[in-house]
Amino acid sequence: MKLVRFIMKNAVLANVPKHIDHFSKFSPSPLSMKQFLDFGSTNACEKTSFAFLRQELPVRLSNTLKEINLLPDKLLGTPSVQLVQSWYVQSLIELLEYLGKRPDDQKVLQEFVEALVIIRNRHNDVVATMAQGVMEYKDAFGQDPVTSQNIQYFLDRFYMSRISIRMLINQHTLIFDHASQPTHPSTIGCIDPHCDVTEVIRDAYECAKMLCEQYYLGSPELELREINANDKSQPIHISYVPSHLYHLLFELFKNSMRATIENHEASSTLPPIKVMVALGREDLSIKMSDRGGGVPFRKIDRLFSYTYSTAPTPTMSDQHRAPLAGFGYGLPISRLYARYFQGDLHLYPMEDYGTDAVIHMKALSTDSVEKLPVFNKTALRHYKVNQEADDWCVPSKEPLNLSSYRVAKQNSGLNYCSSKAEALI
Ligand SMILES: Nc1ncnc2c1ncn2[C@@H]1O[C@H](COP(=O)(O)OP(=O)(O)OP(=O)(O)O)[C@@H](O)[C@H]1O
Ligand SMILES: [Mg+2]
Repeated sequence: MKLVRFIMKNAVLANVPKHIDHFSKFSPSPLSMKQFLDFGSTNACEKTSFAFLRQELPVRLSNTLKEINLLPDKLLGTPSVQLVQSWYVQSLIELLEYLGKRPDDQKVLQEFVEALVIIRNRHNDVVATMAQGVMEYKDAFGQDPVTSQNIQYFLDRFYMSRISIRMLINQHTLIFDHASQPTHPSTIGCIDPHCDVTEVIRDAYECAKMLCEQYYLGSPELELREINANDKSQPIHISYVPSHLYHLLFELFKNSMRATIENHEASSTLPPIKVMVALGREDLSIKMSDRGGGVPFRKIDRLFSYTYSTAPTPTMSDQHRAPLAGFGYGLPISRLYARYFQGDLHLYPMEDYGTDAVIHMKALSTDSVEKLPVFNKTALRHYKVNQEADDWCVPSKEPLNLSSYRVAKQNSGLNYCSSKAEALI
């Protein structure tokens, strides 16, 4: 019996590349918030969801696996990336088992929910493990600008795909796992059709404040204003995933609190963090303004780079309390959460003054459509780019020595023209 199982397992593993090739030929199918909501309320049909997911999840996993395979060999070879890759392969194999099964068999449906829970748990540590792999690689081999750019490109797509896969799994398991109770009676899976935005802002502020007080024994106050341009008397409610919004705001509050305190070490009072929420016909925008000293304009691009942090890397001995900063993952991952439903996150720092962080979200559930990476020729080209010369002049660090351009006084005009012409040739 053991031998049969061994042979079967090897046969399945041997076929994995073929399955990955097959499923990666399909583009993922983005769902809108409205589809998620309709699906979970009026037409909640487990069989349809099962039939969709047993195809869609292998497509999303295979698209991602194709891009993992394009990572630089030395990064792909790190134990952490190998581990992540093996989780993806294992989950794909487990999902493929459902391709030939009948959707109208209740036992199959129940097993599928259980399989999804196992897959979700297997992938719990993906972000940290992949981050570990990138660190191992950087420490061992350093980094050139092209590799850094490729890794940034890959991680944005990889983590975005992961957010989307978890969203699909969460919706199915929360709606159809009859054993588990809904987190809140009005939510549909993990979506709140009437998400109270200011409530989420206050929750995120309170949690960040608690953490901040552990580290600095103080924290800035919150000043919150909201304007519902559609109906000034009504509070702002939208259809959204509260946990995504919370994550985003929590990261922004931690950053603003740290910056505010470190920038006001010498003063006895702390300026508040001001948050403004505005709901228009198309957009919901949230602006968080701090007086934390900002950063120079030159460094803006770095803020969204994975692993860029100006805080000391949290150590293992700090494990009993959550760190306030230090991994350099807060902003890039938050931006992905904002982008997932077609929104975005921008930072506008003003050096030696403060920073405005602006979150844009879609106000309408029909406009909030999943933003998903797809593995195709354009993506492939990104990984194949070689180091090329910049197509904009790079200013020299040393001042230009103009003495070589000095010309005799009497012919200066003529000589200037000819030297310019030579320079152009
Ligand atoms: N509001 C802000 N004011 C000034 N600097 C900021 C602000 N927000 C972010 N930064 C700078 O950007 C860096 C990156 O921020 P990010 O949130 O990605 O990582 P982190 O806070 O260092 O670590 P973590 O991953 O734990 O959040 C910070 O280390 C900090 O130097
Ligand atoms: Mg942070």
